[in-house]
Amino acid sequence: MSKSSTLIELNSVYKTYFLGTQKVKALKNINFSIMHGDFIAIAGPSGSGKSSLLNLISMIDEPTNGEILYGDVKIKDLTDNQITSFRNKKIGIVFQNYNLIPVLNAVENVAFPLQINKVSKKESIERASNLLEEVGLGEHLNHRPNNLSGGQKQRVAIARALITNPEIVIADEPTAALDSKTGMDIINLMKHLNETKKTTFIFSSHDPKVIDNVDSVITLRDGEIIQAENAVLKSKEEVINS
Ligand SMILES: Nc1ncnc2c1ncn2[C@@H]1O[C@H](COP(=O)(O)OP(=O)(O)OP(=O)(O)O)[C@@H](O)[C@H]1O
Ligand SMILES: [Mg+2]
Repeated sequence: MSKSSTLIELNSVYKTYFLGTQKVKALKNINFSIMHGDFIAIAGPSGSGKSSLLNLISMIDEPTNGEILYGDVKIKDLTDNQITSFRNKKIGIVFQNYNLIPVLNAVENVAFPLQINKVSKKESIERASNLLEEVGLGEHLNHRPNNLSGGQKQRVAIARALITNPEIVIADEPTAALDSKTGMDIINLMKHLNETKKTTFIFSSHDPKVIDNVDSVITLRDGEIIQAENAVLKSKEEVINS
């Protein structure tokens, strides 16, 4: 099997929050690579640094120390405008609480990022409808978020994250608001999209059922990686299969 190439590299990444005189060391010396096509779960107890880590990868926040590279691009060398355009092109984000626009129906919510990118209304609605069919919501195109279940709302949110064909979808606790069975359905949907579209996924979860069912898991504790199953640590060569 051919080795896939590196999409994102984290080198000696630290994140410290400063609260008045108090320092919170949320991430310490994080080193790993995300390869094209990866499907990675970030596990760890509350406060272990999962959201902090995903916020750095999604460029919502920046490291206190260390470096994040997307391909050859060092994120810290980009201007704010460049970061915004980079994110719009390459990253899809799925939020725990869906963040759907309540006055728009499912298809309009999914089409929204395309319309921001100046795709015509006709084409964006057509593409959004097709993608909603793919995530199993073909019958619910015209439903507003209020008239959808939690699992259905999360499917809409996933379709919205994918509509611009990003290289990576980043999801912080995408199943936290769902019961375990619906949460597992959502993970299986993400895995299906990972396999069919080759989109890379990284998501956090503290549901053991979810974690037990994915191949690649990075476990954090107190801001450090304490275990990595099938994830690429430090350098591309050092693959840990524990
Ligand atoms: N904006 C912030 N300012 C100060 N401290 C923060 C901030 N965000 C997170 N922290 C602290 O950083 C540490 C890691 O928090 P983080 O939210 O990354 O953990 P988490 O693993 O996502 O937890 P959870 O499972 O509860 O979502 C915690 O000690 C938290 O209190
Ligand atoms: Mg969190």
